[in-house]
Amino acid sequence: MANERVKFLDTTLRDGEQSAGIGMTVDEKMEIAKQLERLKVDVIEAGFAASSPGDFRAVNNIAMEVRGPVIASLARAHPNDVDQAWEAIKVAESPRIHVFLSSSEIHVMHQLRKNREEVMDLAVSMVERAKGYCSDVEFSPMDATRTDPEYLYQMLEAVIKAGATTINVADTVGYAIPSNFADLIRSIQEKVPGADKVTMSVHCHNDLGLAVSNSLAAIEAGARQVEGCINGIGERAGNASLEEIIMALDTRKDLFQVDIGIDTTQLYPSSRLVSRITGMAVQANKAVVGENAFRHASGIHQDGVLKDRSTYEVMQPERVGVPGNSLVLGKLSGRAGLQARLEALGYSLSREEITNVFESFKVLADKKREVTDRDLEILMDEEKRESSEPISYTLDQVHFSSGDHDIPTATVRLVGPEGSIITDASTGNGPVDAVCKAIDRVVGCSNKLSEFNVQAVSEGVDSVGTVTMRIDNLGRTFSGRGADTDIIVASAKAYLSAVNRMLAADEEAELPAVGTTPD
Ligand code: KIV
Ligand code: ZN
Repeated sequence: MANERVKFLDTTLRDGEQSAGIGMTVDEKMEIAKQLERLKVDVIEAGFAASSPGDFRAVNNIAMEVRGPVIASLARAHPNDVDQAWEAIKVAESPRIHVFLSSSEIHVMHQLRKNREEVMDLAVSMVERAKGYCSDVEFSPMDATRTDPEYLYQMLEAVIKAGATTINVADTVGYAIPSNFADLIRSIQEKVPGADKVTMSVHCHNDLGLAVSNSLAAIEAGARQVEGCINGIGERAGNASLEEIIMALDTRKDLFQVDIGIDTTQLYPSSRLVSRITGMAVQANKAVVGENAFRHASGIHQDGVLKDRSTYEVMQPERVGVPGNSLVLGKLSGRAGLQARLEALGYSLSREEITNVFESFKVLADKKREVTDRDLEILMDEEKRESSEPISYTLDQVHFSSGDHDIPTATVRLVGPEGSIITDASTGNGPVDAVCKAIDRVVGCSNKLSEFNVQAVSEGVDSVGTVTMRIDNLGRTFSGRGADTDIIVASAKAYLSAVNRMLAADEEAELPAVGTTPD
């Protein structure tokens, strides 16, 4: 008998973006969506169309351009949300509206301030509204794992009758434990009339570090869609790590006996891309995609692996797309070698882009004996930043002085709108602070620096440092990255990149949500 299929809904672009301090541009979201298409996820939750004009555009663009996966937009149980979701996704090859509404007593009483009947009616009427637009409708009872089970069953029965085709049990606050979560999934299948006719889905958060375990327990209990994010990013402690669930199902097929449609060799490239774009580093010992996931340090382990890799590896690095290290890149390397390596790291480049990158690669290779994957990522980051980031100001020059007896002082020269050159200077409580304040003076803004991270330093004496910064402005957070051999210069670039994003958001806030069809 053929195995049943488990589908994956990736919500990196929606729940993942809810990670504190992450903000992705429309173009960055498209880049991730294209990678998810290569990974062959079944559903991409492209965003929450009604939440902002920027999110609407991101969802709409992805719906227009990405083919293969279902494209979903999230919607609160509000008529306008459902309408906006449909407006954004109706051009997709396979669109889905995902309606959610709280079901737990805590949320119903304290957040919604409604009674159970009112909430039930709202769930039904919004699923009906979504169904009027789209045959594929997902419904999520939010905080399902803290909901009175009898009420949850009634709600799920009612939304199935109203037309929901996927019911998604959300462990919104990461409260579930694998055994009791599996019981809940089984009981829903037993007690909810019609549950056998729709897809049973789960959506787990990681507050107790159990999101992946809970998802796997749910699959064993019959769930046939799992939701999660690449690298496990997301609200608070994050969502279930998709790559971990995928590799558990792939590696222990003997146990789960389900099929998946994922191209597992695209996992590592997906992880690197999401890490680069979000600025959220992947911990070295992270399962499946961490830098140390396939490194063996102890003598006994190395001995075993040299004799037979299966002695200490349950999966092979190639299976998840970790590039082998057989090809050393340096100044004698050619375009084909560079392109192959970049593709393995998750970049897909046009001929013209490869030509441009090859030029910068040669300059770097002249300075370094060996160009590592980290060097390439930094190089690509800089190329991308220059070509795709919203740019109002570019850094022309930066000069600073500091020392234990000096007042840190910085002067910056920026190229502003229409090529104007603006120079200003400031003191600060350190050279980075002075540089940021000097940039503020030129741009005419004032921001709070909420995070400063020297994220990656490539190897060697001529190493390149990458700085990630997050700034707060009027309750909004923007992140920026910059790389240079000098950390203060890298900081100036990172700060300016965050400021440029902020200026782009200001501009965007003026724009109305744009649909793609005139009706
Ligand atoms: O965690 C949650 O409850 C959600 C829902 C919107 C599915 O993200
Ligand atoms: Zn969530």
